[in-house]
Amino acid sequence: MTDILAISSREILLVLSKTTGIVPGAHSAFKVGSPEASRIEWLYWFIFWICFAAFVLVIAAFARSAAKNRIARREMLPVFEDKDGDRRAVWGVAIATGLTVVLLFIILGFSITTGKAVESDTSNQPVTIDVTGHQWWWEVKYPDAAAPYLSFTTANEIHVPVGIPVVILTHSADVIHSFWAPSLNGKRDLLPGYSSSFWFKADKPGIYHGQCAEFCGLQHAHMGFSIIAESVSEFKQWKQEQVQPAHQPDTPEEIRGQQVFLTHACILCHTILGTGAASHVGPDLTHLGSRQMIAAETLPNVTGALAGWIIDPQRIKPGTQMAPNPMAPGDLQALLAYLQSLH
Ligand code: CUA
Repeated sequence: MTDILAISSREILLVLSKTTGIVPGAHSAFKVGSPEASRIEWLYWFIFWICFAAFVLVIAAFARSAAKNRIARREMLPVFEDKDGDRRAVWGVAIATGLTVVLLFIILGFSITTGKAVESDTSNQPVTIDVTGHQWWWEVKYPDAAAPYLSFTTANEIHVPVGIPVVILTHSADVIHSFWAPSLNGKRDLLPGYSSSFWFKADKPGIYHGQCAEFCGLQHAHMGFSIIAESVSEFKQWKQEQVQPAHQPDTPEEIRGQQVFLTHACILCHTILGTGAASHVGPDLTHLGSRQMIAAETLPNVTGALAGWIIDPQRIKPGTQMAPNPMAPGDLQALLAYLQSLH
């Protein structure tokens, strides 16, 4: 186990993505998965090409002027009056300044219309997802006002149906975080004490990576999440599974594992529906086994990584709220068997 912990989580991911096919989603504004993101991408290229053209023109004007006024090294700089040349230069600078101002206003105009357009999604029947930023993970609730027993809570992995508008309600439990899945929409700050909302509609199935985009403390860089866009039927199936209470242990090892969970510090911070564990300090583990990653996309959800995380989370994410949990090897094996049975 010590060997596993000695190598970085990135190395573990690389090895695992080759052996198990678990691949964290791409994090790119150019891998577009929603109409909102494609508008933002369009604006990016629009500004890029304007800036590129301005750069080429400025460098060309500079090169032309440098070539024209080239003098031999030892020659004295000639001083002469050139009233026509001065007048042309004044006009040149005035036109360039005017053009710059006009272009900046054009960019401003397109930025405002793009901003309005990505905010304009509405629907009477959206999928509502309540996201709370914590140091350093994402609590994800799927509230159901009409049927509260169909509400459920998960962490760091957000499933959405393709083609149906999604509204994300944002909260923060502690400091300012920022929710950013560039393939789906722009950034949105999560402010303590304030709630806001924004929309997107995934139009291509896929796994889109997201990341906290506001420095929020020591493990800001390890505050990732995934948005899994899937067909409506797959999404319904997933929801159906998530509203169920946790799998009941049915082997001696799983039964022992549940006892370990309920008699160790785990119960102080986590929820497993259908057991006595009901704290919301840390992620809800009712369906932990259904998630691909743990610790906010820091480690793959496989036995070795989970064991390392339980025993010494401070070594993987120094400063995390989770305390080390030294325990007897037999207890740890049983706990792992139980946690991995929670599909
Ligand atoms: Cu949360 Cu950075």
